[in-house]
Amino acid sequence: MHARSGDRKAEPDRCRTYHETNTETETMGKIILTGDRPTGRLHLGHYVGSLRRRVELQNSGQFEKIFIMIADAQALTDNADNPEKVRQNIIEVALDYLSAGLDPRKSTLFIQSQVPELCELAFYYMNLVTVQRLQRNPTVKAEITLRGFAEGAVEGDTAQRPGIPVGFFTYPISQASDITAFKATTVPAGEDQEPMIEQTREIVHKFNSVYGPTLVEPEILLPDNAACMRLPGTDGKAKMSKSLGNCIYLSDTADEVKKKVMGMYTDPDHLRVEDPGKVEGNTVFTYLDAFCREEHFAKYLPDYASLDELKAHYRRGGLGDVKVKRLLIAVLNEVLDPIRERRHYYEGRIEEVYKVLEAGSAKAREAAAATLAEVRNAMRINYFEDKELIAEQARHYAARQ
Ligand code: TRP
Repeated sequence: MHARSGDRKAEPDRCRTYHETNTETETMGKIILTGDRPTGRLHLGHYVGSLRRRVELQNSGQFEKIFIMIADAQALTDNADNPEKVRQNIIEVALDYLSAGLDPRKSTLFIQSQVPELCELAFYYMNLVTVQRLQRNPTVKAEITLRGFAEGAVEGDTAQRPGIPVGFFTYPISQASDITAFKATTVPAGEDQEPMIEQTREIVHKFNSVYGPTLVEPEILLPDNAACMRLPGTDGKAKMSKSLGNCIYLSDTADEVKKKVMGMYTDPDHLRVEDPGKVEGNTVFTYLDAFCREEHFAKYLPDYASLDELKAHYRRGGLGDVKVKRLLIAVLNEVLDPIRERRHYYEGRIEEVYKVLEAGSAKAREAAAATLAEVRNAMRINYFEDKELIAEQARHYAARQ
C-alpha cells in the first residue's frame, strides 16, 4: 500500500549531506536500523534531525535493508505507569513515518515489543557492561535529571520520583540489542543518540573479542547542518519538546503552523523595522537555515536572491519580522503539504497501517532470530545442537562406568 497522490520526490535541502564514512563501493551489505519512542506525535525536530534523511536514504537504493522501529519497550522504561500513552502513540508515529515518505515496500516498519528476541540479546549483553559504564553515559545522566529520577528525592517534592528504574538505567544495553540484532551498519539519528551508538560499539567489541567475531559495529549518521542537528523550539529554547509546548508537528494544519510561526521567538531587541536585527539565536532564521532553499526566494520572496541576502538586510535594519515569518510559513507549508496529503490517505486506512506493522514485525523477528542463533552459537549455549559436547560427555561418563 502506498499513497499515489503523495508520492513526491523527497525535497533536496540544506541538510542533505551527512557524514558518510563509507564510500559508495562499500554500500553492499549496508543495513539501517533506527527508530523513535512512541510518546507523542513527531515534530519538525524529528524531521530535520533524522526522518527526512531516512526517506532520502531509503530512496537512494544504497542500502540492502532498512529497519525502522517504533521503540515502545524503550518508551515504557520511563512510562511504566502509563502504558496507555505508549499504546495510543504507536499509530501516531506510524502515521508520521508513512506520511513523511517511508515506504513499507522499501523499509521494514516494526514495533520493538513484538520482537522478543531483542530482550534475550539484551540479557546476555548485560554481562558485558558495568554499572559504572552506564552511569557515565551522558544521555542517561541528562535524562535522569530531566525525568526527576534522581536518587534521594526530598520527601514532599512531587517533581522527584524515588530512584532510577533498572529498566531505564539499562536501556542503552537494550538499544545495543536493537541495533546489533539487525547487523545494522548505519544508524541515522540525532547527536543525543551518539552515546548510545558508542555504548553499542563497545558491546560489539567486547562480545566479538570474548566469543569470536559475530556482531557488526554500527556507525551513527548525523545531520551536518547545525540548524538540523538541534532545531530549537518555537520559543527559542534549546530543543523542541512536547512538555515545553514549543513544537511544530508534522501533523499540524497550515493554520496551526501559521499561528505558531507568527508567535515565534526572534530577536527581542529588534523592536522597530528600521532597527538592526540579530540573526544568531533568532529562531525564525534557524528554521530557515534548516528548511529554506534558494529556489524558495524566486517563488516566495523574489526581492532577495538567497538566505544570505535576507540575513544581511535583517542585520542592517529595515526588514521586519513579519516578512521573514511569512517566508518561513510558505516554506514550511511547502514541506508539510505532501506530508499532510499522505497522512490524510493513511488516516483513512488505519487497519492497513496495523497490517504493515504486523508484517514488518514478523520480518524483523526473523532477522533478529537469525542473529540470536549466531549469538547462542558463539556463546556455546546451543546445547542441543552441539553434538560434540554431548558425544564428548557421553564418552567421559562411559569411561567411568
Ligand atoms: N533512543 C531512541 C529515541 O529516544 C529510540 C531508539 C530505540 C533507537 N532503539 C534505537 C534509535 C536504536 C536508534 C537505534 O528516540
